[in-house]
Amino acid sequence: MLWSRVGALGLSSPEGGLILGLCFWHCVGVWGEVGDFSACPSFFYRGHPPRGQGGEGHCLRGLGGQGYTQICQRYKNRHRFASLYHRQDRTPLYSAYLLTMGTSKRPPAVWKYEPQLASSRLSPEMQSFPKKGSVDQNVWESQAVPKDYTGSNYTKGHLNPSLHHSTREDQKSTFTLTNVVPQRQGSNGGPWAVLEREVRARLGAYCTGPAYVVTGVLPYATGRWIANRVAVPEYLWTTYCCPAFNSTLPPALRPFFPTSAAIGRNDPLSDEDIVPVDPKAKRSIRGYDVRLMPLETMEAYLQERLGMAVRVFQNGCPRDMR
Ligand SMILES: *[C@@H]1O[C@H](CO)[C@@H](O)[C@H](O)[C@H]1NC(C)=O
Ligand SMILES: *[C@@H]1O[C@H](CO)[C@@H](O)[C@H](O)[C@H]1NC(C)=O
Repeated sequence: MLWSRVGALGLSSPEGGLILGLCFWHCVGVWGEVGDFSACPSFFYRGHPPRGQGGEGHCLRGLGGQGYTQICQRYKNRHRFASLYHRQDRTPLYSAYLLTMGTSKRPPAVWKYEPQLASSRLSPEMQSFPKKGSVDQNVWESQAVPKDYTGSNYTKGHLNPSLHHSTREDQKSTFTLTNVVPQRQGSNGGPWAVLEREVRARLGAYCTGPAYVVTGVLPYATGRWIANRVAVPEYLWTTYCCPAFNSTLPPALRPFFPTSAAIGRNDPLSDEDIVPVDPKAKRSIRGYDVRLMPLETMEAYLQERLGMAVRVFQNGCPRDMR
């Protein structure tokens, strides 16, 4: 039912509408597989995951298409957030979650894995890596393990960060390697961390309803890996949709509601077409700049790199006028 409603909305613009309409029609048949996002629509604006549309007009459910697995991230018997996971890259393309405000501190890093990726017969609930000894071969083959990051010069970069959650259990659930990408310390401990705090402060102060966040990666055009297994992203991106917000926003914050986006560098040597470098930044964070931008601008960069038209939020996240 939801899908037919979107299809109808797609038809509101004559040319794109027809294509979108067809796209959604194709989506209907494959929607509802075990283990996919249909089990956790609440993490997506209006229940719809980001969508991509490839060159031949084929529909890419939840963006990724072939090679991707939709994970409803379950911890202590509850869905906590959602990730689109690429099995060959052993990294997520994005994680989607609701930001909630709390004061509790970062929990200890107990890293987890996703049994479902090793075998569909296994539990749909994330599990802690064993403290001693090696992981099961099927787990090792199907996803990243802590050892992949050891000595790689990359930190474990959360897409869905623990500080965007109020409850201890939600925070702990972000420590799964299916929510993590290789991120340089200069980004993870620098401008990207600043951005995460700014988003939290901004939404915490002025978002009066749900705040849907989607954070993902742009892979290198040529591919890059650690341990010959885990893909390194060239950029991280993030965007949120807060349809209901305080109408007495300070003027400086008006461009940030109901939606805003950003792209951050993960490589000082990348060119500056997408995100320029501040040459005066201090050395430890130089070349890891973040550029704030409108959602549509970010979607255009995603389209360029992922090779498909991308819509993160249905209708671009309009303001809720109720
Ligand atoms: C990590 O960085 C150090 C110091 O820059 C370098 O010597 C080492 O080769 C790097 N290791 C990897 C795996 O790139
Ligand atoms: C909206 O923000 C103003 C400050 O800009 C604050 O005084 C007011 O209480 C807020 N209203 C709501 C409903 O949060």
